[in-house]
Amino acid sequence: MRGARILGTGRALPSRVVRNEELTGLMDTSDEWIVQRTGIRERRYAEAGTGTSALGTEAARAAIGRAGITANDVGLIVFATLSPDYFFPGCGVLVQQQLGMPTVGALDVRDQCTGFVYGLSVAEAYVKGGFHDYVLVIGSEVHSRGLNFSTAGRDVAVIFGDGAGAAVVGPAEPGRGILASRLHSEGKHAKELCVEAPGFLDDPWITHGMIDAGRHFPRMNGKYVFAHAVRRFPEVIREVLAANGLSVEDLSLLIPHQANLRISQAVAAALQLPEAKVYSNIERYGNTTAASIPIALDECVEQGRIRDGDLVCLAAFGSGFTWAASLLRW
Ligand code: ACO
Repeated sequence: MRGARILGTGRALPSRVVRNEELTGLMDTSDEWIVQRTGIRERRYAEAGTGTSALGTEAARAAIGRAGITANDVGLIVFATLSPDYFFPGCGVLVQQQLGMPTVGALDVRDQCTGFVYGLSVAEAYVKGGFHDYVLVIGSEVHSRGLNFSTAGRDVAVIFGDGAGAAVVGPAEPGRGILASRLHSEGKHAKELCVEAPGFLDDPWITHGMIDAGRHFPRMNGKYVFAHAVRRFPEVIREVLAANGLSVEDLSLLIPHQANLRISQAVAAALQLPEAKVYSNIERYGNTTAASIPIALDECVEQGRIRDGDLVCLAAFGSGFTWAASLLRW
């Protein structure tokens, strides 16, 4: 079977920078609290009229260019987001239209912070299986319009930011590129980090009452999420390494989902991985959910932090709970 590798990456960040100080005018919080608990100093918020699909398309254009192909060469779009332009259809079809692509398949992935790694595993399977030569994987979010900017929502509102990242996956010689992917889920924790309304479990599915009660805002049991994340990240990272007979010492770079700086530090400590080998940009962008890994990956490529032959691990944990990792020989 042929291999599959990332041929090009891209990112799109809104130009509007929102520093912690700006949030202190909206809710009872402080720069000190946010930096200490999360590592975040600023994040980006999309301009009015710019949606998740537009940011995703911009990142995709860059990734397609760097891969040295054209949009017409892409056989499948995989789009991961929790903040789509519309409740339905998904954002994948909007990218097909915005890039002027032929009528290719467009698959939306709903696995929140783990969405990009889940999507990458789909691309890997399609390319390795020979079903498509080029698959476009996008992670994109516009959180800023869905947060509760009052003190009641401060635990969540300070964490999230907007942005997009993308990758083009294409054929590779065996042994190069994506060596292994592992995906996990445990739905019993679904309500610990979720937006529960509007939803079709309720009848009618949307009411003034649910909005008045703030049920359309994300809800997070922060300590609970933290405890599970710091256990699952190391587990799944070790799992993809073991699948290839490799160990943590072999890793050149870990790019974890940028959930929270303290989570990344705890994961590094648990794996006894030097912090220099764990990429972090959460200080500048906050947590961009499905976009965080491809944004970070694109920065690493641009900065020369990843070179040919390096062993790179992408790992994520998020709502669901879901967690996943992908091991790459660059
Ligand atoms: N500013 C100021 N005070 C705040 C804020 C805020 N933004 N948010 C909460 N507080 C207050 C709380 O109300 C609480 O006050 P109280 O003691 O009077 O009740 C106090 O700060 C401490 O709150 P805790 O929730 O105990 O704070 P904790 O130290 O657990 O930090 C945090 C909260 C940062 C959310 C932490 O639990 C965490 O890192 N959790 C992991 C969750 C995470 O990273 N999620 C990211 C998204 S999910 C993902 O991507 C995997």
